[in-house]
Amino acid sequence: MKGIILAGGTSSRLFPATLSMSKQLLPIYDKPLVYYPLSTLMLAGIRDILIITTPHDLPLFQHMLKDGQQWGLKLSYLPQAQPQGIAQAFILAEEFIANEPVCLILGDNILHGEGLATLLQQCTSLQTGGTIFGYYVRDPSRYGVIEFNDAGQPSKIIEKPHLPPSHHAVIGLYFYDKQVVEIAKKLSFSARGELEITDVNNHYLQQQQLRVIKLNRGTAWLDTGTPNSLLDAANFIHVLESRQGLKIGCPEEVAWRMQYINTEQFTQLAHALSKSEYGQYLQGLL
Ligand code: G1P
Repeated sequence: MKGIILAGGTSSRLFPATLSMSKQLLPIYDKPLVYYPLSTLMLAGIRDILIITTPHDLPLFQHMLKDGQQWGLKLSYLPQAQPQGIAQAFILAEEFIANEPVCLILGDNILHGEGLATLLQQCTSLQTGGTIFGYYVRDPSRYGVIEFNDAGQPSKIIEKPHLPPSHHAVIGLYFYDKQVVEIAKKLSFSARGELEITDVNNHYLQQQQLRVIKLNRGTAWLDTGTPNSLLDAANFIHVLESRQGLKIGCPEEVAWRMQYINTEQFTQLAHALSKSEYGQYLQGLL
C-alpha cells in the first residue's frame, strides 16, 4: 500500500511561529512534528511514501527527510501550489498512487496507543472500500463528525457541524482503495473552497463501502493546529517519554524494530546524532 503525508497549507492559525516554515517542521518536544505521522505510516508497514507540501517548504522537507533510504523507505515529494482541501491530494498524487490502495495521514496528526500498529497493519490489507477512524472528543465541532443511526451504524459524516450529532470526530488518517482518485476528481468545492475529505467519506458510506473503526480510549489522538494544542502535544510527548524512557514517533527506532534497516545502519544513524539526547537514546537501544 502507498502512503501520503499531507503537509500543505499556510498554518495561519499559528502565525507568527509559522511565517517562515510549515508547522510540520516545527518541533514537538524533541523532534519535528512530521516525524510522528511518518512513524505511524512506518508502523503500519507502509514504506513507499509521498509527501505533499507547499512549493516553499518542499526543499526543507527534502533536506530533513531525504529520499528515505536511510530509514529503509522510498520518499518522494510533490508541491501543492494552492491548498484546496485534503481530497485534492489524491488528484495531485494520481501518478504516485498508480491504481493501488493508499493511506493518507495529515502531517499534523499525532497518534499513540497500545495495539495501534497491529490495527493499522490490518488496515493495509484493504482491497475495496475505505477505512476511517472515529475518536471520542469533548468538542467535536472542530472536526468531521460521525452521525450514527439507531442501530449504531454510521449514517453520515458532517464537516464541522454547529450541532454535532455525536462525540466521534474523524481523525486525519484514511485508508482507501484505488477508486479514491476518481471519487476526488468528481467532487465540487465546499463553501470554504475546499475539496472535502468528508465528501469522499460520505461517497464511500453511501456505497456501503466505508468501514468506521472507533479508536479505544487508551489511544491518544492529538492535532496541532493552535498554539495551545501544539504545547499540549509537546507536554504529552514529554511526560510519556520522560516517564518511560521510550520515545514516541522516532523513525530510526521504528525502521530498526520493523527491520527496514539492519543494526549496522541503525548504529550509524545513532552515531551521527550522538551529540543530542535523541541520538544518545538511539545509542542506548543497542
Ligand atoms: C480536517 C478534516 C476533518 C478532520 C480533521 C482531522 O479538518 O476536514 O474532517 O476531522 O482534519 O484533523 P481541517 O484540518 O481542515 O480543519
